[in-house]
Amino acid sequence: MTAPLIDPFARAISYLRVSVTDRCDFRCVYCMSENMTFLPKKELLTLEELDRMCSTFIRLGVEKLRITGGEPLVRRGIMTFFHAMTRHLDSGALKELTLTTNGSQLRKYAAELAECGVRRINVSLDTLDERKFAEVTRWGRLAQVLDGIEAAKAAGIRVKINAVALKGFNEDELFPLVDWCAREDQDLTFIEVMPMGDLGNEDRLDQYWSLEDLRARLEERFTLTDLAERSGGPARYVRIEETGQKIGFITPLSHNFCESCNRVRLTCTGELYMCLGQEDQADLRAPLRASADDAVLEQAIRNAIARKPKGHDFDYSRQQVAGQMSRHMSHTGG
Ligand code: GTP
Ligand code: 5AD
Ligand code: SF4
Repeated sequence: MTAPLIDPFARAISYLRVSVTDRCDFRCVYCMSENMTFLPKKELLTLEELDRMCSTFIRLGVEKLRITGGEPLVRRGIMTFFHAMTRHLDSGALKELTLTTNGSQLRKYAAELAECGVRRINVSLDTLDERKFAEVTRWGRLAQVLDGIEAAKAAGIRVKINAVALKGFNEDELFPLVDWCAREDQDLTFIEVMPMGDLGNEDRLDQYWSLEDLRARLEERFTLTDLAERSGGPARYVRIEETGQKIGFITPLSHNFCESCNRVRLTCTGELYMCLGQEDQADLRAPLRASADDAVLEQAIRNAIARKPKGHDFDYSRQQVAGQMSRHMSHTGG
């Protein structure tokens, strides 16, 4: 039996997030600059390499695979990869195959994703106002995303909406978003904006809307009950008693969740980040390419996990950002 991946703080690593491309058809203001330059395609892991990498992690005990980007569905040939991963679902080694998407390509791929065993997806959507949607994504069309969400649901896929809480931008949309998700029977998670990507002169502090404050606003209208469950992810959940719906809060800044971290993230170029909020990374592309023997890659993965840090360094509390990351969420996969 292969020994599972356990980090120095006794946390078992069972969840791999994989960015399959740094490209995206949107340019969300908190994620990318308008004139973002992307990596040359030849630097990306090939689909075959992605398969070998993920299969190795699964052999080492990873049970949940979340495909991210950039926008994963703009990677050419990505459905070939999804189809290939179904063998791990069929064998029972992989418990969940999922993705985080901006929804723009869902109409095209929803049915095929469902065929590949994808049961739930996360769709990023910060506003239901067409004009504001175009502003935050820089040119995205809200109607296209809503249509994609419809297609996913019609294919039997459960949708969770991710909304980044942005001061001065979507504060007034808290209730519209909650009401819409209740009507559509979708889960909803709010995310605190994190200090990543091209920051220019701004440091995201002026965009930061604490979820404690957001929660207090929700409580002005609803009765919230804290739920004990954690999805194996960073979100904490509450139930709105009046509607029965579940709302998640991802609060890396006001409450971190590092103590129960079960995940690592693979970039589209094959580096493994042991923590989203730390710069330390291990190159897995070199061992992957150096030898056809998976034992070499397995050892490189174990060495990397042995360096997983206790937690991240983001800190807004002193009105400054200590661990600001210059790298992009789209490269590391969010
Ligand atoms: P589940 O797998 O269902 O828990 O989904 P998720 O909410 O973790 O995934 P998703 O891709 O939708 O990510 C939502 C947000 O959570 C993104 O902004 C991620 O960057 C953030 N996030 C996910 N994992 C971590 C983490 O380990 N640390 C921090 N700081 N943020 C994370
Ligand atoms: N802070 C918080 N969330 C972010 N995302 C992208 N950039 C940031 C940031 N700087 C979110 C997207 C998506 C998820 C994968 O990451 O909105 O929901
Ligand atoms: Fe694209 Fe998601 Fe980044 Fe927006 S947040 S630019 S949709 S990768």
